[in-house]
Amino acid sequence: MTRLTIRGVVIYQGFLDRAGQETVRDAIGDVLQSAPLFEPVTPRGKKMSVRMSAAGQYGWVTDRKGYRYEPQHPQGQAWPAIPNCLQEVWEQVSGCARPPECCLINHYAAGARMGLHQDRDEADFTCPVVSVSLGDDALFRIGNTTRGGPTQSVWLSSGDVAVMGGDARLIYHGIDRTRAGSSTLLPQGGRINLTMRVVT
Ligand code: SIN
Ligand code: FE2
Repeated sequence: MTRLTIRGVVIYQGFLDRAGQETVRDAIGDVLQSAPLFEPVTPRGKKMSVRMSAAGQYGWVTDRKGYRYEPQHPQGQAWPAIPNCLQEVWEQVSGCARPPECCLINHYAAGARMGLHQDRDEADFTCPVVSVSLGDDALFRIGNTTRGGPTQSVWLSSGDVAVMGGDARLIYHGIDRTRAGSSTLLPQGGRINLTMRVVT
């Protein structure tokens, strides 16, 4: 495992070995059975290129009503619990005494991306956002805590964990592109990113 810090974001390359990645993949597969991926729409009505779901007490959703956390899937059911294997990752890297209340699931099919944004819909910024990458490599862009200015990019691979905490908690970040076919972890290909957060 290699640990590097870019603009305050701590990246653990190879945090999960292949078996660990498979455990998380299978646990998320179970979550998605009861909380299927959906196609989020921005408040302005633009369809996002990632598909989303969540686990935990809250899921982050976006639609015409805005960005927010909701205790239920858009179909009405409660979100499934955050799998233990992911809670363990949180305990190992977050440095936060509180457990995560949301594990957002982002699925990137070939061509999907995510524009630069801050994660700031949470009530408490003292705990970090912990991100786990599975499947295809993704080019992660890290900016500043205010909009604009220079950015730095790093490839995230399957099994990498990134922690946005402390001074980097509100840093702008996004995914420019993925490298389709770079991983064999997900049978259908693509990439899954899991971000755990304390919400309340
Ligand atoms: C996100 O910012 O929600 C996703 C980041 C990623 O896909 O690595
Ligand atoms: Fe984010």
